[in-house]
Amino acid sequence: MPFTPDVYYPERGKDWKCRKPGDVGMDADSLNCFHSSQSDELAVLQIKRRNAMPHEWDSPEYVHRWIEDGDKTDPQRAEQITALVGLIRCSSEECIEVLDLGAGYGIVTREILTAYPNARVVCLDGSSEMLKHGKARLVDWQDQLSFVVTSFDSPNWLATLPAKRQFDAVLSSRAIHHVVDDRKQGLYAEIFQLLKPGGCFANHDLVRKLDDPVRDIDNPFGTVEDQLVWLENIGFIDVECFWQMEGRALFGGYKSG
Ligand SMILES: C[S@@+](CC[C@H](N)C(=O)[O-])C[C@H]1O[C@@H](n2cnc3c(N)ncnc32)[C@H](O)[C@@H]1O
Repeated sequence: MPFTPDVYYPERGKDWKCRKPGDVGMDADSLNCFHSSQSDELAVLQIKRRNAMPHEWDSPEYVHRWIEDGDKTDPQRAEQITALVGLIRCSSEECIEVLDLGAGYGIVTREILTAYPNARVVCLDGSSEMLKHGKARLVDWQDQLSFVVTSFDSPNWLATLPAKRQFDAVLSSRAIHHVVDDRKQGLYAEIFQLLKPGGCFANHDLVRKLDDPVRDIDNPFGTVEDQLVWLENIGFIDVECFWQMEGRALFGGYKSG
């Protein structure tokens, strides 16, 4: 099963192999590059998996399946969510304002409310189906929550938030990688605007490892090193990667107080 010569991305050099539309496993308009260390079998398996299982956040069945599998696929998930919330620099009795970006079924928000029982949280997500699960799971805190269905694909999401609302923290888990790197940088700048002085932004997300053999051309996921630079350029301070393993990282920064 030969790989097509790298005619599309010659700048990548001989270590990269390219599969184009029409190659085995490819749909009509995809293009994928793989590092030469990766076996053909694995490359084809990954393409098939990606084509067979695009994210369908509006599908009740897909969302149900994702929630069922979500916690099982990452044994460190609970620990990471606790660490994410632990980055907020406030005392636990404060009535803090938090934005959970790409809140999904509410796992981060539940941890926020456990650590900060007086918090008020905006759960924002592009999928009403996901937020439906969030509302049901967080019913005990309903008076402290608001739910916003909108996409952070463009800066328009800012207009969907209550006017002049500022946050002590903006937290996100496994959501921002869904937008391309250019947009991530815009989004990080928008988050900075929304933070109160001293506020925290922290993201637990998929990132590309420096030596990652697989690169998805549609969304190449900046490395965590790239993302830390973006945050610093925007004006965040105390920017740090707090944890990183296997293409996942917990990183963020603060707005000066
Ligand atoms: C992998 S789930 C993670 C949900 C939750 N944060 C968690 O850790 O369980 C990704 C979530 O991001 C949301 N999402 C993806 N792209 C988005 C976008 N452009 N705007 C808003 N939400 C988005 C999806 O609807 C989904 O609920």
